[in-house]
Amino acid sequence: MQRCDHLGSSQLMKGDSRMNVEKSDLDRIPPAPGGLPLIGHGVKLMRNPLALLSALPEHGPMCRIQLAADTVVFVSDPDLTSQVLADDKLYDKGGPFYARAREIAGDGLGSCPHSKHRRQRRLCQPAFRSDRLPPYVESMTRSIETTVRGWHDGQLIDLGVDLSAMTFRIATDTMFSTSLSDKQIRQFATDLSTIAHGLFRRTALPPIINRLPTPDNRRYDATTRRVRQLAASVIAERRAEQKDRGDLLSALLEARDEHDGAQFTDSELIDQVFTFFLGGAETTAGCLTWALYLLDRNHDVQQQLHEEVDSVLGGRTATRDDLPSLPLTNRVITETLRLYPPTWMVTRQVTADTELGDIQLPAGTKVAISPYVIHRSDRIYEDPSGFRPDRWMHTNPHHNRKTYIPFGLGARGCIGEQFGLIETALALATITGRWRLSSPTQRPISMSMTQVPVPDGVQMRVTTRQVALVD
Ligand code: HEM
Repeated sequence: MQRCDHLGSSQLMKGDSRMNVEKSDLDRIPPAPGGLPLIGHGVKLMRNPLALLSALPEHGPMCRIQLAADTVVFVSDPDLTSQVLADDKLYDKGGPFYARAREIAGDGLGSCPHSKHRRQRRLCQPAFRSDRLPPYVESMTRSIETTVRGWHDGQLIDLGVDLSAMTFRIATDTMFSTSLSDKQIRQFATDLSTIAHGLFRRTALPPIINRLPTPDNRRYDATTRRVRQLAASVIAERRAEQKDRGDLLSALLEARDEHDGAQFTDSELIDQVFTFFLGGAETTAGCLTWALYLLDRNHDVQQQLHEEVDSVLGGRTATRDDLPSLPLTNRVITETLRLYPPTWMVTRQVTADTELGDIQLPAGTKVAISPYVIHRSDRIYEDPSGFRPDRWMHTNPHHNRKTYIPFGLGARGCIGEQFGLIETALALATITGRWRLSSPTQRPISMSMTQVPVPDGVQMRVTTRQVALVD
């Protein structure tokens, strides 16, 4: 196996005064091959993250990779992965992903340290209570309807781009409802997409490159400032108005900590706005892009899905009440999230010396885990790379919390899980009920360099499906 000498444990300990391990156990963890001087595995990760991840389990339950300036212990073993995710105090948010996310979302719910998390979660949770969902679902169906009506028969669409525009629109609409004009919503959605893409690039590249005054870096900084200013002005307006508009922002403005009655400050609210956009839009777009891509390559499943949506919807837009009658739609989403979990890797930082497996990890060690790697393990799944939605026919994914983790696990698990599942199911059923999407070529895919890896530039031809309307 090729050694990467620059991945020595001394680098892991750098800057951590609590470390007191003479010859660290970390040297026993094999380095992943292919790291380059200075940039480590960053370029590989940017070019094709999923290919890099697929190769890592070969090196044992843990191996070392280098991302930007950080050396990271990558954990592939399912039991060790759930051990890391379940203990959010010992394995706190940290590492390259969260360092970059914090630049944008500050101490928002997804990036704040454990010490601030429980208060934040208590304040955010009411926004996701089931009684607040109906207006969000209305926003979803409006944007889905706008997207499917915007296509015309025979049109060639860039799938990822169209779906990303749709989910950013849903995120903007559910957050701000009518506070923004159509033009502002479009600008805001484009800006957020620029930030989401820039964030991933900045995670993989050394910080010094991110600080250079390149056109990309300047655009990223200017966009971030513009979005923060817009969010601040809407928050100021809405504080003055004091009216519950039923959107996410209203729920966050009203939230009051049951322990001490405290509310979010303006700057905390801006952080939450960023958090929900970054966590909620690209993830759902990524899931939908992969689902439609997989259906195009699995005609038997596509055919069965068409029969299901035709019999339930007859060409109309799906509503939340339809979802229990669309079991195959839900299985397709479950299986897509297994094969291509949008959050393909997360990082943590060890807060006290500890042992993981039989390895001593000093405080300060950066750790990464990957839902993608767990979901592709042949120790867990039969035919792990096959698209087989019916594997979920008699198995509830929610009973497999250790082996099926697209939404993470434990206290830091996804707060928007229900929201995301409803959104993807409504969109998938409505889109496939009206349109057949087929790729003109079956060329092998490349991956695009984004927060959520999606098939790059997948052009799909949309063709109207003739469906008898059901009353
Ligand atoms: C298919 C859709 C989605 C997927 C696959 C997904 C996945 C995840 C995962 C894996 C985590 C845990 C990250 C970690 O452990 O570091 C997470 C956390 C989070 N997600 Fe999602 N997510 C989705 C949709 C959403 C939506 C729609 C929202 C908001 C509207 C959202 C908001 C969040 C937030 C705020 C967190 C941080 C929770 C905390 O730390 O307490 N997500 N998500």
